Amino acid sequence: MSEKLINGLKEQFNFELESGYLYLSMSAYLKGKDMEGFANFMFMQAHEEFDHAMDFYNFLYAIDEEVEYNAIEKPKNKFDGFTELFKEALEHEELVTQKVEELYGQSLEEKNYKVSQFLAKYVNEQVEELDTFRALVKKFERVGENWNGLYILDRELSMRK
Ligand SMILES: [Fe+2]
Repeated sequence: MSEKLINGLKEQFNFELESGYLYLSMSAYLKGKDMEGFANFMFMQAHEEFDHAMDFYNFLYAIDEEVEYNAIEKPKNKFDGFTELFKEALEHEELVTQKVEELYGQSLEEKNYKVSQFLAKYVNEQVEELDTFRALVKKFERVGENWNGLYILDRELSMRK
C-alpha cells in the first residue's frame, strides 16, 4: 500500500474529527440563538462525525497502522443566519465527499480491495449526507425569516436522535 493512501486514511481520520468540531461550534451558535432543535441536529451530526473518525481509527489499527492526532484549528463560530450556516455545512460536506472520493479512487488505482471495501460505505454515506443538507438548505431558504416556519423547522430538527 502506498504512503499516499495510508497518509490519506490518517488525514481522513483527523478530518472527520475536525468536521465534528466544526459542527459542535455550529451547534453552540444555534443554541445561543435559542434554536434548540437546530442545535440538537448539529450536535448529533458532530457525534456522527466522531463515530466516522473512530471507524477510520479502528480500521487503521486493524491493518497494522497507527494514527496521530493533529492540531485542530479554531472552528468558525459566527454565522450570517441559519440559512448561511446550513449552506456552509453543505459546502463542508461537499469537501468531505471530494476527499472520500479521492481516497476511494486511489485505493482502486492500487487495487487495494480491503481499503476500497472500507471506503465504499463512505462514498454511499456522502450521497446521503449531501441529500440531507441540500434538502435542509432548501427548507431554510423557503422559510427565510418567517418565525412560524422557523419554529416548525426547529421542532422537526429537535427529533433527530
Ligand atoms: Fe463524516
